[in-house]
Amino acid sequence: MTPEEIVGSSVQELITAMRDTMRDAPGVGLAAPQVGLDWQLAVIEDRPEYLLKIPPAQLEERQRRPVPFHVLVNPTLTVESAETVEFFEGCLSLAGFTALVPRATRVRVDYLDENAQAQSIVAEGWYARILQHEIDHLRGALYIDCMDSRSFSTVDNYLRYQGSLNRGE
Ligand code: CO
Repeated sequence: MTPEEIVGSSVQELITAMRDTMRDAPGVGLAAPQVGLDWQLAVIEDRPEYLLKIPPAQLEERQRRPVPFHVLVNPTLTVESAETVEFFEGCLSLAGFTALVPRATRVRVDYLDENAQAQSIVAEGWYARILQHEIDHLRGALYIDCMDSRSFSTVDNYLRYQGSLNRGE
């Protein structure tokens, strides 16, 4: 996507629509392929009120903290730590299911923001997981492509046997 396209009205309108869809779901991320568009664009937001419903010990284990709303255009992801960690993950494109997914604990993402300005993030913990999940969507991959297949479960069964579920992405 070119800088001219990013600041143009169709992309700006899409960003607003994707933000609203993500919040309605609710989810912590949404990528353009999930709304039928083959664009390198994703939105991310982990709101403080989402975290209020999760036990503090679980937030600490997952290193999950609020992430302000932001837009990723043309992102490239670099794994910064060889260490991985597994947690149950969900996806708005696979509503009602969850699985254990190994993810790198620290990543760097270079991207353009909604004003077509170059930005860079180094993220750890749950935010690093969200970034990997959303950028996978932009490559046509879902968490089922890298999950531990034996852990694949309906959310109902997960809640019955594993406790409270992480929010979808
Ligand atoms: Co997803």
